[in-house]
Amino acid sequence: MYKQENNIIEKEVSNIPAHGGVLINRELTGVERDDLLQKAESLKKITLDNWALSDLELIAIGGFSPLTGFMCEEDYNNVVEKMRLKDGTVWSLPITLSITEAEAKGIAVNDEVALAGKDGIIYGVIEIAEIYNYDKKKEARNVYGTEDNNHPGVKKVNDKGVVNLGGAIWLLNRPSHSPFENYYMDPKETRKMFVDLGWESVVGFQTRNPVHRAHEYIQKSALEIVDGLLLNPLVGETKSDDIPADIRMESYEVLLNNYYPMDRVRLVIFPAAMRYAGPREAIFHAIVRKNYGCTHFIVGRDHAGVGDYYGTYDAQLIFRKFSKEDLGIQPLFFEHSFYCKKCGNMASTKSCPHGKDDRLILSGTKVREMLRNGEVPPAEFTRPEVAEVLMKGMKDI
Ligand code: ADX
Repeated sequence: MYKQENNIIEKEVSNIPAHGGVLINRELTGVERDDLLQKAESLKKITLDNWALSDLELIAIGGFSPLTGFMCEEDYNNVVEKMRLKDGTVWSLPITLSITEAEAKGIAVNDEVALAGKDGIIYGVIEIAEIYNYDKKKEARNVYGTEDNNHPGVKKVNDKGVVNLGGAIWLLNRPSHSPFENYYMDPKETRKMFVDLGWESVVGFQTRNPVHRAHEYIQKSALEIVDGLLLNPLVGETKSDDIPADIRMESYEVLLNNYYPMDRVRLVIFPAAMRYAGPREAIFHAIVRKNYGCTHFIVGRDHAGVGDYYGTYDAQLIFRKFSKEDLGIQPLFFEHSFYCKKCGNMASTKSCPHGKDDRLILSGTKVREMLRNGEVPPAEFTRPEVAEVLMKGMKDI
């Protein structure tokens, strides 16, 4: 219906193919955008929450390649049951547009429906290919490993509508990433940047936290074997007790400026929502970073975990289910890292022979508590410049 050459292949400016082979582009520009935007004004409208809005954007800019829209039923079921799309491509998390039965009234297959944000702006359009119901309990169990509504991902599943709309999308407006515009790049841009920098191998690092010494240690260990590091903090929706993105971004800036070789690191935001799906999200995070042009991806302890829902290394073990060709990005696994007082440096159980009592290990909860109480975390845990930014930011929240 709209110009298909929008589905462009960006092979010539990349060292690694996108997942599925093609970097998807579902963003309309110019006259086509103007025309559809005008038409969208008179279409039935659905209001997206921030999670769905970030999914819309990530589909459109190729972050979720090979997806071209929200999942139809066969893809959805295959993903929930087998971690693969119906064509066999590995994909570990459902990307769905769920609405209530009331919202679904009057929507039919083949309709175009306008996708608005809570701010009323029309961000895109979906071409409805399928309307289907789904099994929430099964999604919770298979994707999050639990039906416990205290799990933030499960809660999200339970809270959303019971009807899924499947179909290709077009993006008409990109959501604002203020105040982080300077750190926003789409996959096409990061791919080109890596080529321009001459980086043939790039390790991606996902985080929803400030970068502490253990994170720094595993990033720099990886940097010893690859050309560059993409520090790619998630700034989409997170649970309310995670440290807000604006405070984190400031902490990354001071850390990089003081302790990192700036010609080998780039800081780019990852605008996705956090699912807390542990192992399945680790696979998803790796695939999406491949789409951003990374050749390697770090998976440490309890990646994307929450509470006690996953084993410390479950997010590493899950990679064994897939072949190298299936994933197309090299995971780099790291053991639980810490500062060892006897070694006098950062280490892990793989490299340090000393006992528990010699190790400085603090939980995220403990550190957040310290920051809120104005206590400086030890320099062996957090760089003083980072601690200062975090304490200042956390004082009021
Ligand atoms: S999350 O997005 O994976 O939830 P988090 O900031 O907690 O973010 O972790 C970022 C990455 O660092 C993940 O790969 C995680 O496994 C790893 N990681 C965090 N803390 C440690 C640690 N002490 N030792 C080894 N890896 C760690």
